[in-house]
Amino acid sequence: MHKIEQLETKIKETLEKINIPVSSVLLNPSNRPDLGDYQYNGALSLAKTLHDNPMNIASKIVDEIKDFKEFKSVSIASPGFINLTLSDEFLIDFAKDTINNPDINYNLGIDKTIFLDYGGPNVAKILHVGHLRSANIGQALNNLCKKVGCKTISDIHLGDYGRPMGMVIQEIKTRYPDLAYFKSDYHGEEVEFNLTNEDLIELYPTATTKAKENIDIMEESRKINYELQHKHHGYYALWQKIVKTSLNEIKKIYQDLNVDFDLWEGESDNYEYMDELLAYLYDHNMIEESDGAKVIDVKEETDKLEMPPLIMIKSNGAVSYEATDLAAIWERVHKFKIDEIWYIVDKRQDLHFTQVFRAAKKSGIVDENMKLVFNGFGTMNGQDGKPFKTRDGGVMPLSELLDSVTSVCEKRIIENIKTDREKLARTIAVAAIKYADLLPFRTTDYNFDIEKFTDLNGKTGTYLLYSCVRMNSLLKKADELNITYNDIKCLTTPNEKKLLLTMLDLKRVITRSFENCSLNEICEYLYKITNIYNNFYAENKILTEENEKVKTSWLALTKLILDNNKILLNILGINIPKKM
Ligand code: ARG
Repeated sequence: MHKIEQLETKIKETLEKINIPVSSVLLNPSNRPDLGDYQYNGALSLAKTLHDNPMNIASKIVDEIKDFKEFKSVSIASPGFINLTLSDEFLIDFAKDTINNPDINYNLGIDKTIFLDYGGPNVAKILHVGHLRSANIGQALNNLCKKVGCKTISDIHLGDYGRPMGMVIQEIKTRYPDLAYFKSDYHGEEVEFNLTNEDLIELYPTATTKAKENIDIMEESRKINYELQHKHHGYYALWQKIVKTSLNEIKKIYQDLNVDFDLWEGESDNYEYMDELLAYLYDHNMIEESDGAKVIDVKEETDKLEMPPLIMIKSNGAVSYEATDLAAIWERVHKFKIDEIWYIVDKRQDLHFTQVFRAAKKSGIVDENMKLVFNGFGTMNGQDGKPFKTRDGGVMPLSELLDSVTSVCEKRIIENIKTDREKLARTIAVAAIKYADLLPFRTTDYNFDIEKFTDLNGKTGTYLLYSCVRMNSLLKKADELNITYNDIKCLTTPNEKKLLLTMLDLKRVITRSFENCSLNEICEYLYKITNIYNNFYAENKILTEENEKVKTSWLALTKLILDNNKILLNILGINIPKKM
């Protein structure tokens, strides 16, 4: 058990012995470190139930606990706060626990299976900056869920379905009418047709603009899309090629960002369940007609704002985005045993998910206890606070953003390193981007600022990496000098105690991050503990310290902080390079 939890239990049991029964004891880090490390405020709430004044109760409690070996000192502050200063022995024991089993700070004992839906890029459409946050936050939450003890299943939920697919195929057909895909006797043979991602980047906007401007083209695209959904051999084979080409590129970028999925399903896979779903919905009298559309009423009595019905099938016969998401839920709960589904999607899709969740519950597709969670996120804007654009006003492709940050890192950070420059700069750039992206609370918008994000002295991913690389090289030097260091044996300077107190608070940070589904506190925590470590590092000459016990304790502490930073950076999806 975590040392603080052990201490809480010990105090609770002591209180029971002196007839002060409490349901739980909660120790909080003190906001007055000059008075104590932790605070127990129980005497204040006990005053009412015990009909006594809080100072009396506090002093009774203090009499019982003041000689605990866990404390260096215990004191009371008006009107009944108990201030606790931990003993060095307690902190050193805690460090030992953490070295033996780092999971004591992470495992929350939650035994759930959480299904995470993030990424959500669209096939044939360029992966742009709008897709960055879903990938970063989603992957980090996935890592966090696993770390706290949950099982997870992640799904990219590819946007590979719908009319844009028809438009792209229609445009290819116009340009290359003789392709075998378009022949009536085509039955799935391999076709020599070289399609690159660059082609798609050009094809998609051209095709959609043309369709929007010309009603005949739109109609033709719609027809193609309809036939595609009914597995027209040629269209289907061409569509598969488009998906494959697009996914190859998407995978490359995700790989750079340390983003990966258990399932690479698309809306088209969910569509396979549409007939089953519709039959179920009709069976349960969920579907109504409204202006030629088929809808589900999702209003609730307590709604203050208007809640439009969820449209399953549009009046033109097309299946809606809402319907594909409902089919996705249908598929997921039928295939897997899951307790919760989390969606990491732009917060502007809030209404969409409210409708989908309500329909899923109301129709009984998921049972009442299943948690469907919309984890919306804010927008990354340009430096001017307006939507992020390229120099010429277009949407910024994610690959371009990555390249530009990589080149800044190459010039600014690793100018003196000769080998493997590109790979190294990429690792650093990813850290800079990811840390800046995860630092604001999930729903908060932020402005992209390349100089700020790569500043080696700021609250940045580059600062964290640099600090870790330095800790690493210190430990390497110690190894070369054959110094062995396993445990912390003594605490000599105030910053050492501060580091362990900060470590002691980690479990709370992890708990809140998990509850809020946001990584901001982990980012802040990493910065805080790294800063304290760097102060400690600047104050002491570790390797030349003459007292062996002090020196090895300092090295063990360094390893403790580094190992833990690695775990936290890992959760964020950030790798630490060997040099910098
Ligand atoms: N492809 C969608 C878009 O670009 C995002 C998908 C989000 N996930 C979901 N299950 N709807 O807007």
